[in-house]
This record gives sequence, C-alpha cells and structure tokens, in this order.
Amino acid sequence: MINSNKQDKALWSGRFSGSPAEIMLHFSQSIDMDWSFYKQDIQGSRAHAKMLNAIGILTNEELGEILKALDEIEIEIAEGKLQPKIQLEDVHMNIESRLIEKLGHMGAKIHTGRSRNDQVATDYRLYMKAAIGEIQKKLAAFLEVLLKKAKEDVDVIVPGFTHLQHAQPISLGHYWMAYFWKFSRDYRRFDNALFTTDVNPLGAGALAGSTLPLDREFTRKELDFRANTENSLDTVSDRDYLLEFLFAASTFVLNSSRISEDLIIWCTSEFDFVDLPDAFCTGSSMMPNKKNPDALELTRGKTSGVISGLQDLMMNIKGLPLTYNRDLQEDKRPVFHSLATVNMVLDVLTQLIGSIKPKVDKIAPHLQKGFLLATDVAEYLVIKGIPFRETHEIVGGLVQYCIKNGKTLEELTIEEWQAYNSAFENDIFDILSPQSAVDRRSTFGGTARSEVLRQIQAGKELLQQLGK
Ligand code: ARG
Repeated sequence: MINSNKQDKALWSGRFSGSPAEIMLHFSQSIDMDWSFYKQDIQGSRAHAKMLNAIGILTNEELGEILKALDEIEIEIAEGKLQPKIQLEDVHMNIESRLIEKLGHMGAKIHTGRSRNDQVATDYRLYMKAAIGEIQKKLAAFLEVLLKKAKEDVDVIVPGFTHLQHAQPISLGHYWMAYFWKFSRDYRRFDNALFTTDVNPLGAGALAGSTLPLDREFTRKELDFRANTENSLDTVSDRDYLLEFLFAASTFVLNSSRISEDLIIWCTSEFDFVDLPDAFCTGSSMMPNKKNPDALELTRGKTSGVISGLQDLMMNIKGLPLTYNRDLQEDKRPVFHSLATVNMVLDVLTQLIGSIKPKVDKIAPHLQKGFLLATDVAEYLVIKGIPFRETHEIVGGLVQYCIKNGKTLEELTIEEWQAYNSAFENDIFDILSPQSAVDRRSTFGGTARSEVLRQIQAGKELLQQLGK
C-alpha cells in the first residue's frame, strides 16, 4: 500500500539540503499505523479550517474550497484511490500534501497555527473515543449475557472452590454474577479512560501554543470534546489517556482469562460440569476423541499481549523529557493490538458463554465429595451456643472420623453425631443438603437464591444506568 516516489518531498524539507536515506524513509514512517486515522485527521482539519475562517485567517471562499477538497480526499482514501507515500511520513503530511496538490497556495494555509504534535493527539483522541465506545457497547451486551446465565442457572448448585479444593456449595447463578460484577468494573474503567481521553488538544501547536489568535473553544465545540487541555506542554507530551485505556483493557483480559480458566477446568472429564458449544472448540489432528477448549485457551493466551502493551507504552514514556519526542510515534502498535484483542475476546466470550450448558446430573455426585457442608455443621453448633473455635475443632474431628470410616457427613447416624457432641439433635438432618446450604446463606451478597435474584435486579439497574 505504501508508495515510494522520489519527487514527493517532506513538507519540512526547506531546512535541508540533502534528502533522507531510503532506509530512513522506512524507519521514520508511521503510515502503517496511523493511516487508520485518516477520517479523524480530516475531521480535525475541517474543524481547524472553520476556526481559521472564524478568526479571519481564511476567507469564506478559501474555507469553502478547503472543505470541498477535504471531502474529496476522504472519498479518494475510502475508495483506495489515494495511496499514502512514505516520503510523506505519516497520515498528517499525506493528507496535507494532497490538499496542497489540489488547491496550491490555498491548501498551504491549512497548517496555520498547527503542528503534527497537536494534530496527532487530536486524531488519536477522536479515534479512541469511538473505539472505547464500541468496546463498551460490546461489553454491555456481554454483561447482559451474564445476567441471563445467572437467571437461568440460579437453581443449579455446584461446589464452590478455594485453593481449587471443594469448599462450600454455591448457586451457579451466583458464580455468573461474580463475573458480572468484575466485568462491570471494567466497564467503569473504560468510562474513566473515556473521560481522560475526551479533551481537545488542538491549538497546543508544536509545544507552546501560537502567536495567532486561535480559538480553541471553537474547535473544541466542533470536535465535541468535553474540555480543552489546559497546558500546551502537557498536551503534546501526554499519553496517559492511552495508559488508562490499556489498563482497563488489561483488567478486562485478566478477568476474561480467569473465567476461561474456570471453564477449561470445568469441561475436563475429571470435573465435567459444563458442555462447551462445538462452535468454539477444535479437534486433534491425531486423536479422534478430542474436543479441545481452544477458544478459552486462546483467550487466556492473548491476555499477555494486552498486558505487555500496557508495559510497552509505560516503558516508552518513562524517560522522555518534555515535550514531544519521536519515541511517542511508537504509541500506536500496543494500543491497536489491544483494541483488536479486546474486541475479539468480547465477541467470542459473549457467544461462547451465551450457549454454555451446565451438566446437572454430572455435577450432582461432586456435591457429595469434599465435606462441603462442614461449615454448616460448625455453624449449627454455634446456634446451639458453642463458641465457633470449638465447633470448628469438633467438626474437624467428625470429618476425620468420616474419612477413616469411608462415610459422608450425610451418612452419619444420630448416635455417631452425638458421640462427638451431645448438642447434636435430630434437626441436624434438616441442614444436611447442598440445597439448604445454599438457601441458608442469605447474608447480603451471599449465594442464597433470594440474594442472587437481588443481585440480578441490581445488575439490571446498573446496566440501564451504564447505557445512559
Ligand atoms: N507521526 C508522528 C506521531 O505519530 C507525528 C509527527 C510528529 N513529528 C515531529 N517531527 N514532531 O507521533
């Protein structure tokens, strides 16, 4: 896509007697990345031209011609008729140079009071506003799916784990809601990134502003930014809005990786809790029996690229003196890579989790393992007036007794219970079911049906708010 033609001189060539080495052209260009900013670059130029007209630098006629030419250039690029040239380094100089080619003297006025340093910041912020908005739309759809799963599976009981060891029974709906809340915080983090991104850099110039009476409030309104950046030096050297995006992207992929890991474990024959949709699994080229959870493994695997992107940009910025340095041109690769990954992971997880099915009859025997109800028994004795530390000790002894005698707690007779403590009465049998263990955990935020339903309602309300 990149043209190389010796006649096309860089727009800064006046100061130079020699031309750049061929390798320098390739080393210096950013077209491979920033060509995707062409719409934003043209949008920024339109706003800048209108402002120059409003302050009397462009006549109405000049403005009309420039706007018309910018429209044409946008079409030329969209149709692939205007190909970027590496002599012109980046999207900014390619578009400006085409404008000059079309309008001559008149086109040469567009860069008045503007530098590529504030121009690239403008393009990038406009681009990220749209890109983050897209991600948030997808993330809201994913959150809807988690709510739907939580509702469907509120009465499915599975073992809950700590240290990947059987701990206590939980509602599968409660599990899905755990991820609903985690991912809803990612949504908020994208909101924060959006807020930091949404300021107008145009008018900062190369670093110090302009001697011309540029009206930044004019371009701010034109470009629909919520505020103007306050300090021109800060403006052209600032990339922390991208770091905020990359951090939000990183926590999102971390959460995606963790839910993937659970599901990978759950679909092994050892667990066999869920059936994954065929559409997101692959087979083995050798072993005809295999159905592998590749989509989930890739989600887990792609996490590292996004987190590295955050580190990449942090490392880039770490030692930079104010203000703009060319290092900053390297700010696009990690962000674009993360944008692509986050979008794909969202598309995949939304569909995959939307069609996942719990295997209720395969889960049932797991609920008999691991003495899941031990805490319930200890708390039963607390109600009978025994201090918790002592009840813990008593039930620990009972579990040991069961292990030795190959029994579950549910199988013990009243005589065996009472041999351990006389406080045990016949009502102990009322609490010895996973269902009652779940139902009785009705503390705010607990796993009881009533609490999961409350969370689902709160989640619905949150989603409505987020959409606004
Ligand atoms: N293409 C550059 C970037 O992406 C903007 C150019 C600024 N160049 C300069 N020599 N000041 O950051």
